[in-house]
Amino acid sequence: MNQRRGQFTGVVCANIPLCREHFKLVMEVRGFPPTKAGQFVQLLCRSTRDLDYVERELEWPSPQRPEVENVDLIAPTALLRRPFSLAGATTDGETATIEVIHRVVGVGTDWLVQLRTGDEVGILGPLGNTFSHPVENQIAILVGGGVGIPPMLYLASELVGKKVIAFCGATTRDLLSLTVTADARTPGIDSIEPLYNIQEFAAHGIPAVISTDDGSYGFRGFVTQSLQEYLDRFRIRGEMAVIYTCGPEVMMKRVADLARARQIPCQVAVERAMACGMGTCQSCCIRVKKPDASAVPLPGQDWCYRLACTDGPVFAGEELLW
Ligand SMILES: Cc1cc2nc3c(=O)[nH]c(=O)nc-3n(C[C@H](O)[C@H](O)[C@H](O)COP(=O)(O)OP(=O)(O)OC[C@H]3O[C@@H](n4cnc5c(N)ncnc54)[C@H](O)[C@@H]3O)c2cc1C
Ligand code: FES
Repeated sequence: MNQRRGQFTGVVCANIPLCREHFKLVMEVRGFPPTKAGQFVQLLCRSTRDLDYVERELEWPSPQRPEVENVDLIAPTALLRRPFSLAGATTDGETATIEVIHRVVGVGTDWLVQLRTGDEVGILGPLGNTFSHPVENQIAILVGGGVGIPPMLYLASELVGKKVIAFCGATTRDLLSLTVTADARTPGIDSIEPLYNIQEFAAHGIPAVISTDDGSYGFRGFVTQSLQEYLDRFRIRGEMAVIYTCGPEVMMKRVADLARARQIPCQVAVERAMACGMGTCQSCCIRVKKPDASAVPLPGQDWCYRLACTDGPVFAGEELLW
């Protein structure tokens, strides 16, 4: 899948606010390779025209002081590209339309939020591996938290016609990057009834259970609590379901534990901090157990490191040592 990755220029079609701090960025990219849910892109969060200037080498003849005029010292600049999961992608002939949902947390996403229709964005991708689809009759349970919701939206679009339920969580309703339909029945604060009240999932015929930590919308509590209650109430065990998850590591770890305790297969998309996104810098390593023949375990250990960017981001939940 990654053999065709490359550098592309995306042209912004829309950059729409979804809720406080979250925006949907839609870009058209000529020649962008086919993608699947689970994959991500590295976005250059500064002008492609700044490249030469920002990346010039400093003349530093010791012991003199260097001549500093780098824009990074005048205003903060995101030197490294930033990773974002694909929230959706379609292709029309030579042109792909790709979507990412970004939360404004720092210098790079602060730059993204300023983008207007027609602006250009440097894109490296597509990167990483993909989710495996459920087998016949398996229930797909999608569990997304915060900025882990976007890959679940892409996966939902691939699973039309299958048995799917989405569980999504946010700290509060203002930070839920999803659209509640106008005529939606409001779920109670202790309700785990899946409803067709979230436009992005309902469009694919998928019901959702929404949790907010403060109870400002849907189930009051963590998404892992509503998930646990659901799995127990409907006695979901073993191969009858498969769980897909992405979000904060503490959340995904809990989801993987809930799955393991019930022998439910679980696919986890990790979002380790990444610099290069393509296997060079080793900044995204993660420990996995049971190394296969291609991975040498450390001496005396039964585990090894894997790279979240190229071996992942999707891993089997039971293999991760976090
Ligand atoms: C594979 C992958 C997919 C991702 N998908 C999305 C997505 O769909 N939507 C989205 O909004 N974000 C996503 N992220 C996180 C996103 O890359 C960061 O929020 C972004 O790099 C922040 O850039 P910045 O320059 O705005 O913030 P910075 O100024 O670089 O950092 C701001 C703060 O965020 C923290 N931070 C940065 N990256 C991460 C990370 N990966 N995990 C936890 N904390 C981090 C920093 O430590 C710092 O405290 C993803 C990350 C990965 C690795
Ligand atoms: S981000 Fe550089 S090796 Fe994974």
